[in-house]
Amino acid sequence: MTGQPSDLPAEINTSTAHPARMYDYYLGGKDNYPADRRAAEQVLAAVPSAPAMARANRAFLHRAVRFLAAEARMRQFVDIGTGLPTSPNVHQIAQAVTPDARVVYIDNDPIVHVHANALLAGEATSIVLADLRQPDAILDHPTLRRRIDLTQPVALLLVAILHFLGDDEDPAGIVARLRDRLADGSYVVISHATADFDRQAAAAAARAYDQAAAPMVLRSHAEIERLFDGFELVGPGLVQVSRWRPDDQRPGTKGEVWAYGGVGRGPGRVSGEARVEAGRAGTVESSRTRCPTVGP
Ligand SMILES: C[S@@+](CC[C@H](N)C(=O)[O-])C[C@H]1O[C@@H](n2cnc3c(N)ncnc32)[C@H](O)[C@@H]1O
Repeated sequence: MTGQPSDLPAEINTSTAHPARMYDYYLGGKDNYPADRRAAEQVLAAVPSAPAMARANRAFLHRAVRFLAAEARMRQFVDIGTGLPTSPNVHQIAQAVTPDARVVYIDNDPIVHVHANALLAGEATSIVLADLRQPDAILDHPTLRRRIDLTQPVALLLVAILHFLGDDEDPAGIVARLRDRLADGSYVVISHATADFDRQAAAAAARAYDQAAAPMVLRSHAEIERLFDGFELVGPGLVQVSRWRPDDQRPGTKGEVWAYGGVGRGPGRVSGEARVEAGRAGTVESSRTRCPTVGP
């Protein structure tokens, strides 16, 4: 693709690099433009293994969703920061385990919205154009509410998105707000880029995002762990994404993937819709725990 194609909606700006399309480029996709490729090449110059890291992150997402559908018995998924469709997508993994699993995909990139509408929307899936920085608008969106019953546990996916929020945007507060509106027994999946393994190269790669639609904010293991506040991390805790329940039990070397990932089970707060429902069932009390500390 070159230039701004005339068939794209006006709100899609292809002259500024966008994280979704840069990620698509690392994964070998075709839905990216020259500005995305220029910024992605700058990342690759600093970190040639960026495509391998993107694939490792994607594989983590697959394993986490499989765990949630098969072992945690989740039937409802809210995937914020969906990215461009990349097979298999979340609903395909969840529905392979549970055919009636429902998925709502959310992204703030209009081009993701266009592609996802074409490829991901279906009988049990919906796509919503919305921004993580407005968590209540996401959970109150009529499309989400038609698909997701907030009185029942939800699997919330925040995979490779929170590093696009600055500290001033309060990512921990946003996760907490979402957590507090989810029913008891909900789960969260988070993966997040870090500079813990090579400060200089990671900072150079992150600088490439300064010219993109969203800057990349690298955080330490301790900072990322705090995003799970109120959730209890399931084993093996917050680890490099390649080390989270690897399929082949060969997680690779310690330094090769510069992203941490984990899955947390939340007691949540029995509030709002959940309180009404739980009140009917006579089970309103819920305790909150701080997630345990697990080293990288
Ligand atoms: C690196 S991709 C991750 C895609 C997918 N979650 C995965 O891990 O394979 C990040 C996605 O988050 C989206 N995103 C970034 N900031 C966002 C925000 N504030 N609200 C909603 N989506 C956002 C981007 O448009 C992009 O599609």
